[in-house]
Amino acid sequence: MTITPVGWMIIVITIVIGAVLLLRPKKYAAKLPPEYKVGMPVIGTTLAFGRDPHGLLREAYHKLGEVFRLNLGVETLVVILGSKAHEFFFSATEQNFSLGEAAKRFTRNILGDTQNDVMGKKQGYDADWIGRGMRPFYTTFFPACIVKQLTETFGALADSGAVVPFYQTCSRCITMLNILCFVGEDAHDKYKMELAQAMDDIETYGADPLGMILPVPARFKAKNARDRLSKYINKILAERAETNKTEPGLLQVLQDIKATNLHGKLFGVFFAAHTNAAGTMFWMLVNIMAHPDKRAKIMEEQRILHEEYGDRFDSSVMSKVPYLHACVKETIRMYSLLMLFRKAMIDAEFEGYAIPKGTQIAVSPVLVHNDPKYYDNPHEFRPERWLEDPEKVVMLEESRLFVPFGHGPHRCSGERFAMQTMTLTISYVFGNYRLELVDAPPDKPWPIPTPDYRKAVGMPTPMTDLMVRVKRL
Ligand code: HEM
Repeated sequence: MTITPVGWMIIVITIVIGAVLLLRPKKYAAKLPPEYKVGMPVIGTTLAFGRDPHGLLREAYHKLGEVFRLNLGVETLVVILGSKAHEFFFSATEQNFSLGEAAKRFTRNILGDTQNDVMGKKQGYDADWIGRGMRPFYTTFFPACIVKQLTETFGALADSGAVVPFYQTCSRCITMLNILCFVGEDAHDKYKMELAQAMDDIETYGADPLGMILPVPARFKAKNARDRLSKYINKILAERAETNKTEPGLLQVLQDIKATNLHGKLFGVFFAAHTNAAGTMFWMLVNIMAHPDKRAKIMEEQRILHEEYGDRFDSSVMSKVPYLHACVKETIRMYSLLMLFRKAMIDAEFEGYAIPKGTQIAVSPVLVHNDPKYYDNPHEFRPERWLEDPEKVVMLEESRLFVPFGHGPHRCSGERFAMQTMTLTISYVFGNYRLELVDAPPDKPWPIPTPDYRKAVGMPTPMTDLMVRVKRL
C-alpha cells in the first residue's frame, strides 16, 4: 500500500499533536508546592544540597514553611513537614506511597541481585519476620550478647591503652554486635573479622552515590563484598549442618521459617541495623560526656539499681531505669534521620498542593524534632524533658511530632533492640569504664562535634572524630 502526500501530512500532524499533548506540563486541580531555589539556575539547588543538605532543608523550611519542592536534577523532591505531614506520609500504604520504589536506587548495590525480592513493589522492605523472629531473644539472649560485645570492645581498649577514633569504635562495636545477635555466636567467634570487613565494604561501596547510577569501581567492590559475605554465611550454614547444631539468632530464624532469599534478607537487616545504631551510640556517649550533671544522674540511678539487682542486666531490670531511656530518646530526637522517602504511585494532594504520580516525597524527622515550635530549647541535650511532663510526651507521640523510628506500615522493626542496646551501653560503659578525651583535662566536659549529614540521609556522622582512651574505673 502506498501513502499519498496528504496521508503523510496527516500522519506527521497526528504524531506532532500527540507529542505536544504528551510532553506538555500536566495541569493539576491543585497547584504544585512552592519551589526553593538557590544559587545558579538549573544546578544551584543540587550543588547546595550536595554541600549541606541539612542546611538547605532548614533554610527552605524557614522561608517556605511546611511544604516545598526541590529540583535536584535527576529528581524533584516534595518535602512535607509537621504533624499532618507525618500522619499523611507514614500511614500511606505501599501501593500509594512506595518505600520499595523510592529506595531502589539506594539499595541496588547493597542488596544486588536480591533487590527485587527483598524490596518488592507490594511490601517495600518485607520486615514482618524480623519483629516476630526477634521476640524470644529480648529476655536473656540479646542482653547477654550486648554485654559480651561491650566487654570485648571496651575491655580490649582499656587493656591496650590505645587511643582510638571514637565514632569508628562505636561503628565497629555495633557491627560486631549485629554479627553476634543476627548471625550467631559461632560466626562471631570464628569469622567476625572477615564478616565485619565485608559488611563495612558493602556499606561504604554500596552507598557510593556515583555507583548508584554508573558502573564505577565502587559498584564492583560492593558486589565483591556481597559475594564474600555470602560465602561466609554458606560456610557457617554448612558447618552447622555438619555438626547438627543450631544457634540462636536471626539466621537460624530464617532457616526455621524456610525463608526464600535468605542472604538478601540478612543483608537488609545488617544495613538497617548498623548506621543509625552506631550514630546513636556515638552521639549519646559524647553528649553524656559533655554534660557532667547528666552523668551524675546516670551514676546515681545505676547505684540504686546495683544495690537492688547486683550485676543483673536482663530486660526486667533494664526496664527500671527511666533516666537511661530518657537519655536515649533525647539523643534520637536531636540526631534523627535527615530524610525518609516514598515514591508517589498515584496523583495525590496534601494541604492543597498537588503531588503528581512519580514524585519523590520526603519527610525530615530531624527538622521537626529540632523545631522550637514543638520542643523548648531544642538544641539543648536535656533528657529531663521526657520525664517532667508526661502529658506533653504523649501529645508529641500521638501527634507524630516524635517519630525517630518512623510510624505505620514501615515503622522500624529494630526499635526494641536499639533501645535495649543503648540503655545497656550507658549502664555498662559508665558502670565500668572512664572515657578520656586525648589532650584534654580528664574532668573537662567534652566538646560536641558538628553533625555531618553529607554521607547519608540517615543519622549524621561527626564532622571530625574524637580521639579517645578508655580506662577501667
Ligand atoms: C537507633 C537506631 C535506629 C533508628 C533511629 C532507626 C530508625 C528507623 C526508621 C526511622 C525507620 C523507618 C523508615 C521509613 O519509614 O522509611 C526504620 C525502619 C527499619 N528499621 Fe530501623 N532504626 C534503628 C535501628 C534498627 C535496628 C537495630 C534494626 C535491626 C533489626 C532496624 C531495622 C529496621 C528495618 C528492617 C526497617 C524497615 C521496616 C519496613 O520497611 O517495614 N533498625 N528504622
